Amino acid sequence: MDTYFVTGGSGFIGSNFIQLIHESILDANIINLDKLTYAGNPANLSKIENSDRYHFVKGDICDAAIIAKIFDDYKPTFIVNFAAESHVDRSITGPGEFIQTNIVGTYTLLNESLNYYTDLTDEDKKRFRFHHVSTDEVYGSLGDKGYFTEHTSYDPSSPYSASKASSDHLVRAWHRTFGLPVLITNCSNNYGPYQFPEKLIPLMILNCLDGKSLPVYGTGENVRDWLYVEDHCEAILHVVKMGTVGETYNIGGNNEIRNLEIVETICDLLDEIKPCGDGKTYRELITFVKDRPGHDFRYAIDATKIKNELGWYPKHTFKTGIRDTINWYLENDTWWEFIRSGEYRQYYKAQYES
Ligand code: NAD
Ligand code: TYD
Repeated sequence: MDTYFVTGGSGFIGSNFIQLIHESILDANIINLDKLTYAGNPANLSKIENSDRYHFVKGDICDAAIIAKIFDDYKPTFIVNFAAESHVDRSITGPGEFIQTNIVGTYTLLNESLNYYTDLTDEDKKRFRFHHVSTDEVYGSLGDKGYFTEHTSYDPSSPYSASKASSDHLVRAWHRTFGLPVLITNCSNNYGPYQFPEKLIPLMILNCLDGKSLPVYGTGENVRDWLYVEDHCEAILHVVKMGTVGETYNIGGNNEIRNLEIVETICDLLDEIKPCGDGKTYRELITFVKDRPGHDFRYAIDATKIKNELGWYPKHTFKTGIRDTINWYLENDTWWEFIRSGEYRQYYKAQYES
């Protein structure tokens, strides 16, 4: 029986990953360590919260004692680190938390993982993996041509991407210097169910439904390579199970799209599925606003390595993924209304601090 120690599992990608493990590996045990910041929401895992294979621990990845206790109590086979401050705009207005969680937190996890790993039997050492989930933003910005490969030099632009780049370097150092069996994945922009409504796609869907303006930064020409979250989670599982220790794998969706086209697509699909009703179109809500400082122009992933070595490739096209995502938000209004009202913060504070 494998035990997965997941950090940041109450966030967007972590909760999708935990649900995938729970559904697809029927004898797997899962421990979720999450600080429950504004982005962490236990409701993302309400479907499995009573499962005897799922264990939640509220805590910080900067807290060595709590990490040591989890290692001691549960003896995990794998650790998968999702915990992070993840929003670029917040890293511009308040970088401190990004330095603390993304850099100091990853360092603390590495140190405690090494303590645990050192005392494992030779047999258990062969299986243990420290998997670090990172971003393509560490590579900086592309022009109109070219792709990020695993050999592209790091050149981060924002406090967020610089903090993730630092964490990747620490993870590699703990492998090269101390022999910790690590894996790193760098993926492109994710979208899908349970994404916090501050990121482009859910923000635009919910603003449409509220009749609010749709703020497109600059001219909307910036390009991202969109990856459906379910595809990403399957890729991580491939790497945890089959990846070569010490290696990095890029994960992308083969879906390069300009921001303005994303927003227009959401508007057009909502016009079809849930029209405004007053003869207007959602595109009328589009508003061009001041550009983000240091805004990277284009991200695009070359995912040849993971395809050739591990047989993974994205199954969702943007056309199907975006329709499924819009339908998910339409069907799960209680989930996002709870977040948008701010009530979830008070509710979980009371629940986990009593
Ligand atoms: P998210 O913001 O939705 O979730 C982050 C989770 O981490 C939350 O549950 C939060 O409570 C928890 N957390 C934050 N600080 C913590 C701390 N100090 N200790 C314990 N838990 C803490 O983020 P996400 O979009 O799910 O991203 C997950 C990971 O994937 C991050 O490492 C991010 O850098 C990476 N990533 C995300 C994307 C994307 O498009 N969302 C793309 C590439 C890489
Ligand atoms: P975001 O979802 O914040 O992801 P990232 O910055 O990590 O790529 O933004 C995706 C793109 O959308 C990015 O180019 C910035 C742009 N954007 C807007 O134009 N308006 C918005 O309100 C937001 C949140 C993002």
